[in-house]
Amino acid sequence: MEKEMRTPVIAGNWKMNKTPYEAVTLVNELKEFIKNPRCEVVICPPFLDIPVLFSELNGSSIKMGAQNCHFEEKGAFTGEVSVKMLKESGCSHVIIGHSERRQYFNETDETVNLKIKAAVNGNLTAIVCVGETLEERESEKTEEVIKRQVEGALKDIDELSLRKIIIAYEPIWAIGTGKTAQAAEADVVCGYIRELIAKKYTKQLARTTRILYGGSMNSANAKELLEQYNIDGGLIGGASLKARNFAEIVSAADSL
Ligand code: PGA
Repeated sequence: MEKEMRTPVIAGNWKMNKTPYEAVTLVNELKEFIKNPRCEVVICPPFLDIPVLFSELNGSSIKMGAQNCHFEEKGAFTGEVSVKMLKESGCSHVIIGHSERRQYFNETDETVNLKIKAAVNGNLTAIVCVGETLEERESEKTEEVIKRQVEGALKDIDELSLRKIIIAYEPIWAIGTGKTAQAAEADVVCGYIRELIAKKYTKQLARTTRILYGGSMNSANAKELLEQYNIDGGLIGGASLKARNFAEIVSAADSL
């Protein structure tokens, strides 16, 4: 019942794939496959593809997000992109704190928190990623790591802003490895994130916040994952680069 209050989100994280030209081809295929989804469908292409896709997506029900943003409004930050630039270029969403950014680009819980604030203040929906490494899971530190990341991300964020935040649980050992978390085990962690939100805010907000799973989700395993009570959608990497595969995951969400 409560799960029905939460519109599922299927978000594609293209990572550093697809040139602007290739991106247009993929989007045209996606538009053929995805006409009137009941779930929220978001694609997150590389920055350079965004303005090109803005016009391509006009009139379609597919939304666009970026994979990162800077937390300052403007200024001397060579190589960075602001929330306002993303907004003006057609983005409604932005992924923040993906594990690859934490691992390779030194993002910390503090910068993730600043970026979330910048995103929601600029009226973008933030898709905030959290997740443990294999080592952390094996040493039974999953909850500790998730708690630190969730609390760090949501520091000084009020209830109104939380409504513009989607959390994505992405166990690092499942990203791009073909190893998916068992549906029940992913549900437990997503449920734990919901508990953390209930404690910090209210039970009502915990019930309405959307929590996604990410990590080797594909058309074969999507349904089982999406059926879990605490899983409200997916953040999809590899399988979002093939229109048919991505559309099948959207259909799986729509069939729930
Ligand atoms: P994957 O990536 O689906 O290729 O595992 C997910 C992600 O990193 O968001």
